[in-house]
Formats: sequence, structure tokens, C-alpha cells
Amino acid sequence: MTVVALVPAAGLGTRLGLNVPKAFVTLLDRSLLERAVDGLFASGVVDDVVVMVPPDMIDRARELVPRARVVVGGAERTDSVRAGLAAAGDAELVLVHDAARPLTPAPMIERVVAALRGGASAVIPVLPVADTVKRVDADGIVEATVDRADLRAVQTPQGFTAGALRAAYAAAPGELATDDAGLVERAGGTVVTVPGDPLAMKITTAFDLRIAQVLAEETA
Ligand code: CTP
Ligand code: MG
Repeated sequence: MTVVALVPAAGLGTRLGLNVPKAFVTLLDRSLLERAVDGLFASGVVDDVVVMVPPDMIDRARELVPRARVVVGGAERTDSVRAGLAAAGDAELVLVHDAARPLTPAPMIERVVAALRGGASAVIPVLPVADTVKRVDADGIVEATVDRADLRAVQTPQGFTAGALRAAYAAAPGELATDDAGLVERAGGTVVTVPGDPLAMKITTAFDLRIAQVLAEETA
């Protein structure tokens, strides 16, 4: 079964606050985009990669990741994934993997694909939540302490049968979601979990980039 990975890389990186879209920020020797795409190919379980980038970064992306197909993303992440799906051709299995997770280890990518090959139609890598989590009201007053044992932090790549992902996106034409499995859940699909990895951390802020620099130096 052909595996295509879609790499959303069309965000602006507002919270990181540099003067270049986040996927094009360099971590040591390579951009986040190059690291994410190279990591997917290096896993050995991905046949093809489609990256979605801002319209003015198409040429740059083609230089950086010549093995990938490059398409224009959209205003929201959901729009970018939609654009990627339209370019996914007849892939049977689809991974969606944020460029913002450049240090994702190969075994984690393999676990997601193995669960799909084992019959799951939607798979997400997760980690336990270390902090105590509370729900608060609009004034910041605590309403409840959520049972941490039931919670998981969710990473990417998330994996889907092409049918399940296409159906979930078709069922929610105008909806936004922070992750793709959320749309599958809304469409009534079953989402299974596999162990994530702290190295698959998402770079959102300048602090995250500092941590990632240290980790990248260790593995350089
Ligand atoms: N993304 C995308 N298209 C968008 C928005 C986000 O492809 N319209 C991608 C980002 O490039 C990133 C991933 O989705 O790889 C996760 O999004 P996020 O971490 O929020 O990145 P940005 O949207 O770039 O950052 P910010 O929200 O701080 O602007
Ligand atoms: Mg964003």
C-alpha cells in the first residue's frame, strides 16, 4: 500500500516571531522543512512526500526538498491539508506531519504506519501529560482538576487510510481543527494511539527552538 506523507508548512510562525515562515527557519545546518521531509524519507516507510507552503515560498521549497512535491497551502492549517490531499493522488495510506516537528525519530513514524498496516484507519502518536491540568473559567478561577491519567498530548505524524481522511475532510467542508484526527473523530471514526516520542516536540515559540537546537546538536 502506497504511503504518502503530507507536510503542512504554510504557516507564518507568528508565535516564533522570526522574519521568515517557521518551516524555513534553520535548525543548525538545515531548515525545519528539510529536516521533516528528510526524516520521513529516512524512515523507509514513506513512498512520497507532498509539502504545502506559502505561495511566495514555492521556489525556495523546491530547492530545499527536491524529492518532495511542493504545492501552495491555505490560510488555515486545515486548508493546507486539504490542498495536500488534493495532490495525494491514489495513495492508500496518508500521513500528515507538521514541518514544525523536525526531530521526529524514524521508529515513531514506523509505529504509525505499522498500526495502519495492522488495520487501523486513524492513528495518532501520543505522550502522557506530565503537568497537573485544570479547567478554569473566563476569570481564571479554577472549575475543576482534570484526571491526568485519561489525558494524552498528541503529536504528528498522524496516519490515516486515504478513505478515512478524505471522508472526514469531505464531511466538514468549512470546519477548522488543530489536528486531523479531530475531524475523523467528528465524522464518527475510531482513532487509535501509539506511543509518541519527546523528540517529536513541536516548535512553536522561541523557547522551543532553543530546546530543539540543543537536541539537534546532540544528534549532529
Ligand atoms: N500550517 C500550514 N498552513 C497554515 C497554518 C499552519 O501548513 N495555514 C502548518 C505550519 O507550517 C506548521 C503546522 O501547520 O508546520 C503547525 O502549525 P503551527 O505550529 O501553528 O505553525 P504556524 O501556524 O506557522 O505558527 P503560528 O500559529 O505561531 O503562526
Ligand atoms: Mg498556527
